[in-house]
Amino acid sequence: MPNNLYDHIDYVLINEEQLQKRIQEIADDITAKHADHENILLICVLKGAIIFLADLTRALKRPHELEFMAISSYEGKGTVPGAVRLVMDLKQDISNKHVIVVEDIVDSGNTIKYMRGLLEARMPASIEVCSLLTKPSRREVEVDIDYVGFEVPDEFVVGYGLDFDELYRNLSFIGVLKPEFIPSH
Ligand code: IMP
Ligand code: MG
Repeated sequence: MPNNLYDHIDYVLINEEQLQKRIQEIADDITAKHADHENILLICVLKGAIIFLADLTRALKRPHELEFMAISSYEGKGTVPGAVRLVMDLKQDISNKHVIVVEDIVDSGNTIKYMRGLLEARMPASIEVCSLLTKPSRREVEVDIDYVGFEVPDEFVVGYGLDFDELYRNLSFIGVLKPEFIPSH
């Protein structure tokens, strides 16, 4: 394995400037749409969405709270394809909140479908999904995404929070791994 993270990257798909510009646009959309709302709560899906959340929260012009949830996909013999489980729940009641779920990428759609179901049952004032990336070619279940940063092709992308085997989250751009580092997914 090379010592330098950048040696693993085949090419940059979305650079830092493009990311920052688009995030400001999304934040402006959210600010406008929630202009009359007091109880706005951003729920970050750990860990992939942390960098996106950090920039999005600072670009929003409405007061809001932050919460975190962790979800994991079941993997292994005999597991139901697409099944996900809750690893860490919220620390608060969301019944009167305008919830915005902040995700890194919607791939199969299973994670967001599960999150929406779980959170809707808790009767928030409203619920929306904001994902930095979407990979529609991989969708297994239909999901509504209210705010999307970029549509990406069927490539395994890393950086800006997204990992492969827990690495590359710290890159400030979205890149595609070199073929020798690409996992079969
Ligand atoms: P889902 O398939 O829509 O449930 O997505 C589940 C999770 O898989 C996402 O939140 C990401 O954390 C991860 N994921 C999906 N595609 C990629 C990718 O291209 N790079 C890194 N992580 C990914
Ligand atoms: Mg994720």
